[in-house]
Parts: sequence; C-alpha cells; structure tokens
Amino acid sequence: MKDFKNVFIFDHPLIKHKIAILRDKKTGMKEFRELVEEITTIMTYESMRDVKLAPVQVETPLEVTTQYKVPEESVAIVPILRAGLGMVNGVHKVFPTAKVGHIGMYRNEETLEPQEYYCKLPEGIEHKTVFLVDPMLATGGSACDALNALKKRGCKNIKFMAIIAAPQGVENVAKSHPDVPVYVSTLDRCLNENGYILPGLGDAGDRLFGTK
Ligand code: PRP
Ligand code: URA
Repeated sequence: MKDFKNVFIFDHPLIKHKIAILRDKKTGMKEFRELVEEITTIMTYESMRDVKLAPVQVETPLEVTTQYKVPEESVAIVPILRAGLGMVNGVHKVFPTAKVGHIGMYRNEETLEPQEYYCKLPEGIEHKTVFLVDPMLATGGSACDALNALKKRGCKNIKFMAIIAAPQGVENVAKSHPDVPVYVSTLDRCLNENGYILPGLGDAGDRLFGTK
C-alpha cells in the first residue's frame, strides 16, 4: 500500500497480542468485547500525542504550580453503529466526560454500499475533537460516509480509529479525507468476494453482540 501522511498503523506488541486473541473464532462474546475495549484504550493514548493541553493552577501540599490538562468537554466520541459501540468504553476510560453521538450505518450485503439509518450528535460537536470509531475498515464506504456526515455538521477536528483494516479501505479514507488522521491497529491482507477482511475476525457486530 502507498504511504499516506494521515495514516498511522500501530505496531504495539500489546495490541498485537490482544488482536491474536480477538481473531480466534474460539474467543467468546465477553472476552471479545473486553478486548475491543482494551485495544481501543491503548489506541486512544497513542492517537492523543498531539492533543492540545490547557494550563491549570494546581496546589500541591507544598506550593502552587502550573500544570497542563486536556480541557474538559473538548472530546466527543462517535461510534458507527453497531460495531463501533464496542469501542466507546475504551475511549471513555481515557476521557470519562466525553459526550457520545451515534451514526447508524449498515452495508448493503450485495452492493457493499453503506446506508445511513441514524444520526444523532451532541450539541457543540463542531468545537470538539471527535473520535469516530469502528472496529472494521473494509471498503471504507461506511467510514467515508460517516466522515461526510460529521463534516456537514461542521466538525473540523476528527480522528478516525479502526482496529482492523484492509488496504483498500485505508486508501479510500486516506484519499477522500486527507485532513483526517486514520489510526489503525493492524493492516490485513485484502477483502474477500463478500467484502470481509482477510484474515480479519469475521463480523465484528455479530461477535460483539452475539447475534450469530
Ligand atoms: C461493518 C463494520 C463497518 C463496516 C465496514 O458494519 O462495523 O461499519 O461493516 O465496512 P466498509 O468499510 O466496507 O463500509 P456492518 O455493516 O456489518 O454493520 P453492523 O456494525 O451493524 O454489524
Ligand atoms: N465488517 C465486519 O464486521 N467484518 C469485516 O470483515 C468487514 C466488514
């Protein structure tokens, strides 16, 4: 795959370890859900290296000192339904007060085209750093449409996080949204004829919610 300036593929040994368990078809729903959450928390740390801090005065037992904090209310989380829901708690571990918006998308199983069925975003989202999250980036259609919906609402500072991605999906998002940093835990080989990522982990929504 071509190098894109806005694409960051993590090469973290702990993430690799957890993804190996996540992929295993013997991994059950509870462990799958916990792993998605843990991987997301690690990804959130890694993707916030450029976060803007605000100075605050802190009184230690000995003196007053200027310290730096991430401003409260500056972060929002937007999962792409359904599977993105599995990543929300992982970001909340780092930013517990982040408000949550929802964008509902499903892929038409024949055309693989995404269909938006729901969009509800918190007020003032356009002033926040928005984490758009979805564990799977396959063709990139869902992510691109969700990014368009957020931009239509005025969001300017968006980070997209996916756990497993196909090269085709990464290229699609990176080219269509060069202003959006794309954080991916692992880059897989390709898509199969049904649009599933190989080797992948199967259907993330079904494995998270036990629907199959
Ligand atoms: C999956 C996944 C992404 C999308 C990725 O959702 O969670 O949203 O497919 O595919 P794309 O990159 O080709 O658009 P799905 O449509 O299966 O819905 P679900 O989350 O409700 O299971
Ligand atoms: N959505 C999934 O849940 N898995 C894939 O492999 C591709 C899209």
